[in-house]
Amino acid sequence: MDQQKTLVTLTAQTKPDKDVGRPDNEPMSDVVNRPAVAADLARIVEIYNHYIENTPISFETEPHDVEGRRAWFDGFATTGPYRLLVVEVDGSVTGFASSATFNPRAAYSTSVETSVYLDPAATGRGIGTQLYAALLTELDKEPGLHRAYGGISQPNPASNALHERLGFRHVGTFREVGYKFDRYWDVARYERELAGGERGE
Ligand SMILES: CC(C)(COP(=O)(O)OP(=O)(O)OC[C@H]1O[C@@H](n2cnc3c(N)ncnc32)[C@H](O)[C@@H]1OP(=O)(O)O)[C@@H](O)C(=O)NCCC(=O)NCCS
Repeated sequence: MDQQKTLVTLTAQTKPDKDVGRPDNEPMSDVVNRPAVAADLARIVEIYNHYIENTPISFETEPHDVEGRRAWFDGFATTGPYRLLVVEVDGSVTGFASSATFNPRAAYSTSVETSVYLDPAATGRGIGTQLYAALLTELDKEPGLHRAYGGISQPNPASNALHERLGFRHVGTFREVGYKFDRYWDVARYERELAGGERGE
């Protein structure tokens, strides 16, 4: 990813719309959503590895090392369909959201697969909603993009609610499609229309 370009976009400063459990005398966090840069990769890997190793939320089973994840990182850009954003809370990278290839066959290129992961200590405060909304705002501006899809292993009420809040609808559930931690897991598919992708109309 081109670091020069990434520094200038998507740096709107926002605050969480919820601050559950915050003591009255504690200042609100500064929350900044921005494109990822190479220096963020180690933290992104650390956050994602937590979910690989401890949960069925990711269907990957082996943790990544930073060097091994560099090719994945290089597949994102600050324009076009494949984006990688991070959220900084008080200056620390606390989560990431991505849009990636939905299916490598050419006719699927108008669709993307989206996902979002926060540091588990940062969940439930509105940060995921802001980060995912920032990603979708960028994707809505992208000509040629028509649909975004999320795949959510069940149960995951926070992710289901997040997708529904941001305009996705549940289009079906693959039953027992994955096997991890000695059992099968269902995956709910969520679909959202993207604004920029109308073709032939
Ligand atoms: C899913 C995730 C990104 C949501 O971000 P978040 O900051 O925790 O969620 P928010 O506080 O923005 O809340 C989003 C919605 O989820 C609901 N929610 C949050 N935590 C919840 C919980 N533990 N149980 C039920 N609903 C919950 C909120 O009420 C809100 O719904 P609403 O808009 O209808 O009120 C975050 O929890 C996370 O990283 N989870 C682990 C990784 C993961 O599941 N990623 C998604 C993979 S598909």
